[in-house]
This record gives sequence, C-alpha cells and structure tokens, in this order.
Amino acid sequence: MDRIRITGGAPLNGSIPISGAKNAALPLMIASLLTDDTLELTNVPRLADIQALLRILGNHGVDHLVAGKRPGQTSETGQTIRLSARTIIDTTAPYELVSTMRASFWVIAPLVARLGEARVSMPGGCAIGTRPVDLLIMALERLGADIEIDRGYVVARAPKGLRGGEVIFPKVTVGGTHVALMAAVLANGTTVIENAAREPEIVDLAACLAKMGAKISGAGSKQVVVEGVPRLHGASHEVLPDRIETGTYAMAVAMTGGDVLLENTHPDLLRNALEVLGETGADVISTNEGIRIRRNGGGIAPVDVTTDPFPGFPTDLQAQFMALMTRAKGTSRIRETIFENRFMHVQELARLGAHIRLDGDAAVVEGVEKLKGAPVMATDLRASVSLVIAGLAAEGETTINRVYHLDRGFEALEAKLGRCGARIERIRG
Ligand code: EPZ
Repeated sequence: MDRIRITGGAPLNGSIPISGAKNAALPLMIASLLTDDTLELTNVPRLADIQALLRILGNHGVDHLVAGKRPGQTSETGQTIRLSARTIIDTTAPYELVSTMRASFWVIAPLVARLGEARVSMPGGCAIGTRPVDLLIMALERLGADIEIDRGYVVARAPKGLRGGEVIFPKVTVGGTHVALMAAVLANGTTVIENAAREPEIVDLAACLAKMGAKISGAGSKQVVVEGVPRLHGASHEVLPDRIETGTYAMAVAMTGGDVLLENTHPDLLRNALEVLGETGADVISTNEGIRIRRNGGGIAPVDVTTDPFPGFPTDLQAQFMALMTRAKGTSRIRETIFENRFMHVQELARLGAHIRLDGDAAVVEGVEKLKGAPVMATDLRASVSLVIAGLAAEGETTINRVYHLDRGFEALEAKLGRCGARIERIRG
C-alpha cells in the first residue's frame, strides 16, 4: 500500500490549481440516469471516487466516454466525461458496489423517478459515524414511492411515476436534498422542499438539472420548489471548484507560512472558513485569479469553531482546522455538530505531539510550540489530509499510511504541494 512521506518545516510559496469538486461531481454524474440523452460534465477531478462511481453507473448500463486532452490542457485540468444512460439494464445497486462509496445510494432517486423502480443496498456505517438514510427514504415516500426494506436493500417502487409533494427535512441533509431534487424533477406536479441544504454543491446540481430542462427555483435557499416535467434532455455542465480542497490548502499555508495563490476557485464557496482563517492571523486576499493566502511571521491565533451546514463552518474542514490549531498560541475549542464520530484524527495528531482533549462533541486543542514527525494513519479522507497539513509543519519526517483515503478526494496532492516547496513524496508499495 502506498505511503506519503513528508519532511516538514518548508513554507509553501507559489500557486495551486483547485480541481472540480468531488462532492458536486458525484451527484452530477448520478443525474445522468435521469435522461436517455448524453450529459457532458467538464472539470471533473481525477479521483478514485469518480472511478468508483463510473463503475457503479456502468453496472446500471450507463456508458461513459472520457474525452482526450485538448492542446494546452495539463493533467491538472479537469477531465471531460460524457455519460449516456440511454438504456438502463439493471435497477439494482448491489452491496458490493454501494458499500465502496456511500454517495452511490443516491442512484435510488433517478432510477425510481425514471423507471418506476430501484433496489439499492443500504450503505451501512462508516468511519465518521452511523450515517443513516432514513431522511432520504422519507423524501422518496413523500413523493409517492412505496418503500420496502428487503434483506439489506431499500426497494423503491412508483410504477405510475412519482408525484409532487411536500418534503420537510427535520435536519439539514445534503444527500437528502440531492435525492429529493433528483426525484422531484420528473415527478408529476409541484414539490416543495423545506429546510433544504444550501451547500454550493446543491446549487450546482440544480443548475445542471435546469440545463437538462428541469424547473427548479430557490436552490441555495432553505425552500426549493420543483415543478416536475415529463422528461429531461442532455446538457453540458462544468463542475464547480472544490471548496474543501480550497480550504485545505488555505489551512496548509496558514500552518507552514508562505504565500500561495489558490487558482480557479472563489471565496463565496467558503466565506465562513476564510473569515476564521483571517482571525487566526493569515491574510486572505481575493483576486481575479482566485484566493491568495499569506502568513509571514507572526504566530497562529487560537479561534473557536463550530461546524454547521452551509454557510457555516464545514465539517469537511474540521480535521484540517484542528491540525492548524495544534500550533496556535493558546487554546481553541472545536465543536463537531454534523457527525457524531468525526474525531479519529485526534489520536494521530497526538502522535505528532499535539495536545488535544475530547469533551463531548468538542475537542479542546492546546497549541504547542512544535510538532515532531512520526508515522501516522487515518481512517477517512479529511482526517488523512489533516495529517498531511500537520506533517508539513512538523519537525522531521512524517509518514502517512493508507494513502488510498487521500486518493479518494485529493487530486495530485503531492504534485500540487511539491510545486510550492513542500518536501513530499509518495512511496509505492
Ligand atoms: C455529504 O454527506 C458529503 N458527501 C460529506 O462529505 C459531508 O461531510 C456531508 O455532506 C456534510 O456536509 C458528499 O457530498 C458525497 P448529510 P451526506 O446527509 O450527504 C444525518 C467527504 O469527506 N442524516 O448532510 O451523507 C447524518 O447522519 C464527505 O467528502 C440522518 O440522520 O451528509 C449527519 O449527521 C464525508 N439521516 C447529518 O444528517 C439521513 O437520512 C448530515 O448528513 C441522512 C443524514
């Protein structure tokens, strides 16, 4: 299994191109199931999760074509993928496939909306908590699907098609909102989604669905209204920039010091996190090309943070922010309100010399003068990258095991950091 070796202590200087967002690309790819025309997606990141979803969609009969590189494109330019779900050969998503990636459960919505039937394995727990799908099922039921749980599978049926309805989420859910949107676009009548997630990835999906002929208003607000249409057609859509990748590299620069331009991204995607970074003492400057992050001299100020649905501080940046706070000049408190078990990086950061105490749903981080490199590993994507950030600032050598977690969500991580002066390499094997 590959490992990443980092020799810490080098500041980061230069520029980093930000890729298309994994968490936007996944639902967009799933939306290809809604039409028998071709959906073209550009700026798709090269990631293991994208490959896994292509396999899962292929199992349903979706053909895909990855367009070749055009002149002037580098491997850091996102790929173009054309997806065609002309003939669906199977409406079942089996356990072996769904268990490799939770988001694939979302295929249930377009399958039942277009074909009147879907049989999708329940995804099960994962490293960051139990992560139930009850609200996704509730949304489908509100739109008229009959739901049966059969030997670990959720079977959704709507032989006469879905019908519009009112979906009121008791809790903000990104996946639930994606599912409700994809189901409602082909339903008969009007759907009102209340307490919808407002994440930029929801807005991106709604924008793509609108290009495909869907009638959606209010995406990005708490109430989304969808007027169902009988069919959707093909479209071309560019995946929005990855706000979590943006925030991750911004925190890396705040941690190591230096001056980096994060290209092809924009601050509206992560206002809250950038404000917090500013409070820690980093300069955050918006430019026409992207976001410039700079920290020269001066210590890192401690800042308390609570994760919240968008536009709050994202849970997907919590681990990275904790890495930054391990070197702060004082104590910070980081509260996690989205997932109940998203603190696995705490033990590993402690291996590098961090002082962190868990207190219910919060971590209390007492900044230390320096971190020291060590072998570490993590059990999820964002936790793994928090160890990369800590390793970049630690004295000596840090080896990060189980790199496949990083490959799920960070495109060309070593190349992007290496170009800015980080001493980072992948050890194959
Ligand atoms: C999405 O997961 C993201 N995944 C996650 O990113 C992200 O952490 C999360 O949203 C929150 O922002 C993708 O977009 C592929 P939720 P999702 O439904 O949709 C509870 C990463 O590292 N809930 O918004 O699965 C749930 O347990 C990943 O890229 C229910 O109780 O998250 C959680 O506490 C990790 N019942 C809260 O809602 C349900 O039926 C929010 O989860 C559904 C969710």
